[in-house]
Amino acid sequence: MRVAVIGSGSIGPDLAYGFASALAKAGGGGVQLHDIREEALRAGMERIRSYLAKGVSRGKLSLRAAHGIEASLRPTTVLAELAECDYVLEAATEDLAIKQKILADLERVLRPDCLIGFATSGIPRALIAARAAHPERCFVNHPFYPAWRSLPMEVVLSGDARFETRMLESLARLGKVPIITADVPCFAADDIFCNYCAEAARIVAEGLATPAQVDAIVNAAIGGGGPFNVMDLTRGNLLNVKCLNLMRDAPSGSAWFAPPAIFSQQGNTPWHDPERPGNPEHEAALAEAVRERILAVLLGRTFFVVDKGICHPRELNWLTQNALGFAQGLLDLAENLGMTRVQAICAKYAEAHPGFELTASVRDGRLPRFPRHLEVEIAGGIAVLRIRRPEVMNALNERTMAEIAEALDAAETDETVKGIVLTGFGGALAGADIMELAALETAAAARDKCLSGHRVLDRLAAFAKPVVAALDGPVLGGGAEIAMACHARVVGPHLLLGQPEVNLGIIPGYGGTQRLPRLIGVERGCALLRTGRPIGAEEACAWGWASGGPAADPLAAARTLIGRHLAGEVNLAPVSPAPLTLPATLPALEIGHHSLAIDAVLVDVLRKGLTRPLPEGLRIEADGFARCRGLVDYDIGMKNFIQNGPRVPAVFMHESHPERAAGAGRLHARMRRRR
Ligand SMILES: NC(=O)c1ccc[n+]([C@@H]2O[C@H](COP(=O)([O-])OP(=O)(O)OC[C@H]3O[C@@H](n4cnc5c(N)ncnc54)[C@H](O)[C@@H]3O)[C@@H](O)[C@H]2O)c1
Repeated sequence: MRVAVIGSGSIGPDLAYGFASALAKAGGGGVQLHDIREEALRAGMERIRSYLAKGVSRGKLSLRAAHGIEASLRPTTVLAELAECDYVLEAATEDLAIKQKILADLERVLRPDCLIGFATSGIPRALIAARAAHPERCFVNHPFYPAWRSLPMEVVLSGDARFETRMLESLARLGKVPIITADVPCFAADDIFCNYCAEAARIVAEGLATPAQVDAIVNAAIGGGGPFNVMDLTRGNLLNVKCLNLMRDAPSGSAWFAPPAIFSQQGNTPWHDPERPGNPEHEAALAEAVRERILAVLLGRTFFVVDKGICHPRELNWLTQNALGFAQGLLDLAENLGMTRVQAICAKYAEAHPGFELTASVRDGRLPRFPRHLEVEIAGGIAVLRIRRPEVMNALNERTMAEIAEALDAAETDETVKGIVLTGFGGALAGADIMELAALETAAAARDKCLSGHRVLDRLAAFAKPVVAALDGPVLGGGAEIAMACHARVVGPHLLLGQPEVNLGIIPGYGGTQRLPRLIGVERGCALLRTGRPIGAEEACAWGWASGGPAADPLAAARTLIGRHLAGEVNLAPVSPAPLTLPATLPALEIGHHSLAIDAVLVDVLRKGLTRPLPEGLRIEADGFARCRGLVDYDIGMKNFIQNGPRVPAVFMHESHPERAAGAGRLHARMRRRR
């Protein structure tokens, strides 16, 4: 894929670096960075080199990978050199005339099928593409800071399904999570963000608090670093002025949106001087006054976006957390505050600030209800349940499991639904939520966690309508286990399948110890479970974990498979619950650095559980998982994963005596407290 970014200012080089890194992982491609100013390109490339050097020095990038990424990037002042691009993202100065001129120039240079994105913070697509010869390939692609690693990208679609599909697929390939918004000034996130910054600026302009106090108060209340810190990082003051003017002049605008003069007075000079940081100390009364005003604006604008249908509530909630960096999504925040309090906060603010709109949801105290981590699409008699937590590769937390159970209830009674496809955003299902596992304090809590997971997976297995998993990415641990509870699995070529629990000092707890050997045979199943070794799509298909061969479009293949089942051509069924006959001893295996203590529990669970019917085997697995919780290697594995990520092997103690292990666990906890 050949990509170009136009504009080497604050955000262009970050976008180019992020795209080049994503393409290097996805098998290659080239990225051009274009600007009309040589010095801007020089500074941009210098910044990218500093990112690469930092990546190498922190061990996140090999020297070879860094050289590869650098070699794939090419700066140019000549627009005609972009002629062979598949996608060009315009990230030049936020000015309608400049953007229209660049688009006109691009149309003369690019192939007619090249996709064009505008990184604009607030100018509607309709305005930029008003005179385009081929508006169908023009999109708003609004990125967020830091653009090289921030996942979300707001997208305003073009109305042409063919180009839209390519646009969304291209962004996914470039490591972005597209969030569809309506074509309104400032879209979804910058409506909320710019008004939040404006309120902070008004507070400072009125002399109520200093930037240091506002940042400290806001960060303590809702996270996100504080508005002035973020404006400094993004050099955002003047960009905010432009966005606020757009909203003021829109049909829904009013004088309330007018940018505070202090923005223009400040220019792009930072609010904070690192040499002389301001004093963030403040009285409780000031904290309350600032917090209430900031909350009113954040929540009022969030509900405006929801009520006007600018963005789906689930996506908006995710966006406000993952793009704006707040500790929780703003609709989660509203839920936690309670709508009565949201109403009171917003109404009080509206009274003092004419032009601030109270939309229907706030007036009526209505909170939208929606699954947070599950997207359900029903088409052609098939319900596609897509787990959507891309920031953690769709890891399954308790809320996600509960939402899957609710979606199954709905699909069961919906007569139009004939079958279900279970998938993850981008094809991945990375496993159970490690933070939740690490937080389990007792063996009883660990057992309960397994048993509640088993209930959802058993429901999937026993579901009266066919359920097929469609996967094409890392499918690990709990993700592989939920797939094995389905009636069949279809996989794409990017599958990386594994039960890596032993790396974390645990055994599988969502049925993996029982379903995997029943599905692919005792020898292979036990080997994968005990070593944590992953396999690819070819092996998964050849060993019977997945149906057929690797499919280019697993979702379409899963639909076809369900259709064939419904037509009586194939018979999809859950993994057989029958007991297995085991050899007298399990084959000898080299388990590497893994914990001998955890391996002993795993072997015991395999030996006892597989020779009994599945429901009994699952109970034995839950007991085994609980036993692991009592071992010090559980703490060691979890801590290592959280601190060092999946690539650094844990140094296990192999302590298997429960009493002594419990003692070691306490010692470990003491060590943790002391550090
Ligand atoms: N800064 C951010 O954090 C951020 C975040 C999201 C979106 N955006 C959007 O990205 C775009 C760029 O923002 P920025 O903050 O990097 O702006 P900037 O002012 O820092 O940089 C703009 C760059 O565009 C170049 N440029 C101007 N006219 C050009 C032309 N005709 N051809 C090629 N290059 C040209 C300039 O030389 C400059 O280097 C804007 O639309 C902005 O709204 C910025």
